[in-house]
Amino acid sequence: AKHVIIDCDPGQDDFINLMLVAAAPEVFEVAAITTVAGNVPLALTTHNARLACDWAGWRQVPVYAGCPAPLMRGLATAEHVHGATGVDGLPPATPGTPLIDTHAVPAMIDALRAAEAPMTLIATGPLTNIATALIMAPDIVDGIEQIVLMGGARSAGGNITPSAEFNMAVDPHAAARVAAAGIPLVIFGLDVTHQLRMTGPRRARLRAIGTPVATVIADMLDSTANRMTFAADDGPPLHDPCTALFLIAPSLFDLVDCHLAVETDSPVTYGHTAVDIAGATGRPVNARWATAIDDEAAFACIEQRLAGLAAG
Ligand code: BDR
Ligand code: CA
Repeated sequence: AKHVIIDCDPGQDDFINLMLVAAAPEVFEVAAITTVAGNVPLALTTHNARLACDWAGWRQVPVYAGCPAPLMRGLATAEHVHGATGVDGLPPATPGTPLIDTHAVPAMIDALRAAEAPMTLIATGPLTNIATALIMAPDIVDGIEQIVLMGGARSAGGNITPSAEFNMAVDPHAAARVAAAGIPLVIFGLDVTHQLRMTGPRRARLRAIGTPVATVIADMLDSTANRMTFAADDGPPLHDPCTALFLIAPSLFDLVDCHLAVETDSPVTYGHTAVDIAGATGRPVNARWATAIDDEAAFACIEQRLAGLAAG
């Protein structure tokens, strides 16, 4: 199994991603979960990550709270998407999973330095923690095999501004640092996540699985579908789960090499991802960019994995 650190801001789709990871224990050995401010403030993303560990049936996975705000900008949140708690549809509870009393950034640095082999980082929130770790400890680059992340938009346009996807827009300076770090990146932006829609019939199929985890995921997706307006029959996109899906079944995706740069300064287009596939900038390849997903096969994979997840 791959040793992974999951850096996240749960977030309904972050939560679903964690359930997919839990449902593929032969693929993932989770070394740590680190939380960051994003969809909701840090206290809530941390609370929700601990609840996710309870639902996943994880007893040994340490959870560390990280940065409470982006590097340079004020925090922007997304309660309009995920609800006031960040995980609308999940019954309120007191987490059984403890919070470790160490900041996520030094915890991440220590874990990467101590690892026997380079680890994979899965990032499904703003990249503040990972950028801060790279600033504090540039040597960790050697301890990271790849960063598999959700963020950005090329042809899809933005979802938080006309030009930018949420994770990139919340902390563009962090994203720019991560892009420039020389670490292999695999990126799932809106171009591909908008192809994976949780339509009404798919939500019904998840509910029909009948387990507590599948039911709560169906409740979350129904809550988003009811709160937001989607084109008829579209339903909410599943953003963050593309990261776990890729590591479970890479052939679900089409990816192309690119040079990725992130706009930091423009008051209009901050967080925009400039994805150079054609080589127009002459800059070297620093990322693989996902362009397409076999969405039927991806949904079948999600359904099958969740059906096999007994925990929760
Ligand atoms: C991203 O923003 C968040 O709201 C989601 O959790 C996802 O990581 C999608 O733009
Ligand atoms: Ca997220």
